[in-house]
Amino acid sequence: MDYEPIRKGDVSGFRVAPNLSDYQKAIDRFQWEDIHSDLDWLDNGKLNIAYEALDRHVNSPVRDKVALYWEGKGGEEEKYTFGDLSRLTNRFANVLTGLGVTKGDRVFTYMDRIPEAFVSLLGALKVGGVIGPLFSAFGPEAVRDRLGDCEGKILVTTPKLVNTIHEILDDLPALESIIIVERGEAGYELKNKEVSYERLMGGASEEFELVATDREDYAIIHYTSGTTGKPKGVVHVHEAIVGHYATAKYVLDLHPDDIYWCTADPGWVTGTSYGIFGPWSNGITQVVYEGGFGASRWYKVIEKYKVSVWYTAPTAIRMLMKAGDEVPKKHDLSSLRYLCSVGEPLNPEAVLWGEKVFGMPFHDNWWQTETGCIKIANYPIQDIRPGSMGRPFMGVTPGILDDNYEKELPPGEEGHLALRAGWPSMFRAYWNKPELYESRFKGGWYITGDKAIKDEDGYFWFVGRADDVINTGGHLVGPFEVESVLVEHPAVAEAGVIGVPDPIAMEVIMAFVSLKDGYEESEELMRDIKKFTRKKLHSVACPRKMKFLPGLPKTKSGKIMRRLLKARELGLPEGDVSTLEE
Ligand code: PRX
Repeated sequence: MDYEPIRKGDVSGFRVAPNLSDYQKAIDRFQWEDIHSDLDWLDNGKLNIAYEALDRHVNSPVRDKVALYWEGKGGEEEKYTFGDLSRLTNRFANVLTGLGVTKGDRVFTYMDRIPEAFVSLLGALKVGGVIGPLFSAFGPEAVRDRLGDCEGKILVTTPKLVNTIHEILDDLPALESIIIVERGEAGYELKNKEVSYERLMGGASEEFELVATDREDYAIIHYTSGTTGKPKGVVHVHEAIVGHYATAKYVLDLHPDDIYWCTADPGWVTGTSYGIFGPWSNGITQVVYEGGFGASRWYKVIEKYKVSVWYTAPTAIRMLMKAGDEVPKKHDLSSLRYLCSVGEPLNPEAVLWGEKVFGMPFHDNWWQTETGCIKIANYPIQDIRPGSMGRPFMGVTPGILDDNYEKELPPGEEGHLALRAGWPSMFRAYWNKPELYESRFKGGWYITGDKAIKDEDGYFWFVGRADDVINTGGHLVGPFEVESVLVEHPAVAEAGVIGVPDPIAMEVIMAFVSLKDGYEESEELMRDIKKFTRKKLHSVACPRKMKFLPGLPKTKSGKIMRRLLKARELGLPEGDVSTLEE
């Protein structure tokens, strides 16, 4: 709170008038129902995300507008209008129907950010499928855990990736078909259960009668880490589109002439809510860049496609800062008009760096996989307090609760960030885990698991997680998950995992490992253990740092004391160690 606010002044100085012109008025009057009339809906109050994102535009001039500028890793360029995507997704919906997919079946994608990923996800929604987008960076077991948990029926992937998961396919009895997207890489020999995307799409009709889904029908499942066990499937329903649409319009401030770039992958909820549904339900052109991070490369994307609204993440911003202020000067970035960030704390220096280098600050906003859409944000019209996540979105009532989740704490006091339950994109379930789901709600509040402070003016400030979950580069990693993998290694007796500070990713994963009798500590063994984790976990969840210890500090009941490992590693006070079993 030590930084001067960034003043926004009145809207006359804005390049375009913000969609949200008077925050207080909007907050006072807002009802989610007001958003309903902006969407098209199906007959009888039915709602389908793919219809709102694509098909409804087919009856308007938006049909011929570019929906997707795609740039591949190797510089390939493709573009698709809303009309093109509507037809392609119809075809894919027919392909799925031909494979026996019906409403409620789980359809997973496991591929890089290629156009077929978007077609598959939206096509699957048209048949009433529940989509599960996976990162291509997942190892075989991460894929197995997710498909196995919710009995995925279809997997859409590429030859390269399917080769890496052949070994797990026998463990997935519910998986009926694997659709292989070859993308010009002919020569792949189809194996058991595998069918060719290109071949099936070639023979599929462009006409499809969309399955009329109810607003409460399951639509999307994203797996996210928690404190215990395997990742849990966060389930969203078709009504979530109301939240995606409204927040893309009023927080990301998308306007019809914008060229929008969300750098997130659809494997993460940001890449679906704001990399597919939010922009397209608003009829906005977006850029998808398949390649990875690179400062010059990213600036080139902005320059080439004349990106005006850019939604990215703190780790990426800090990497751009590290690359230096000279790099952006080599590019014409004058198309930019609005910058947003999400996923982890955005340090004030990064907010201000935006001002210095692009002539505008980054607008931080806060939400979670479970919330489905942005809940707290900095808006174009409001002063920014660098370091704050901003103020609640319309219709959202956050509170800071005491440790019993009973009492709301006054401004300035740190407590548990909670949200009054009930909004369109609120998750409706953890797949097959009703008790875990219920445990997230107390007295009408949804407990977020974050700690925060609200100031006198209603700005929220992130303090940290209330649990051991680690946020590394915007990805949540449950330490237990990593520990479970580590102890599967034949040499490992026990493992404790913590997050340690990192200037770019905020935190990176550090593992403490004790070895079984008969194993000697060595550099080679450490390398082998790290390699072992890479096979089983998402690359970001693999320990970057590792230390051998003769034994791990545990409570009397045998729980590893991660808090103590962290305090010892960082030279912090050890706190209460009365339960420690030495
Ligand atoms: O701890 C908060 C952090 O990321 C968590 C949500 O992670 P995930 O479900 O993967 O995110 C999905 C889409 C954002 C939160 O509980 N987080 C998110 N945004 C912020 C943040 N921490 C601080 N500031 C933020 N703006």
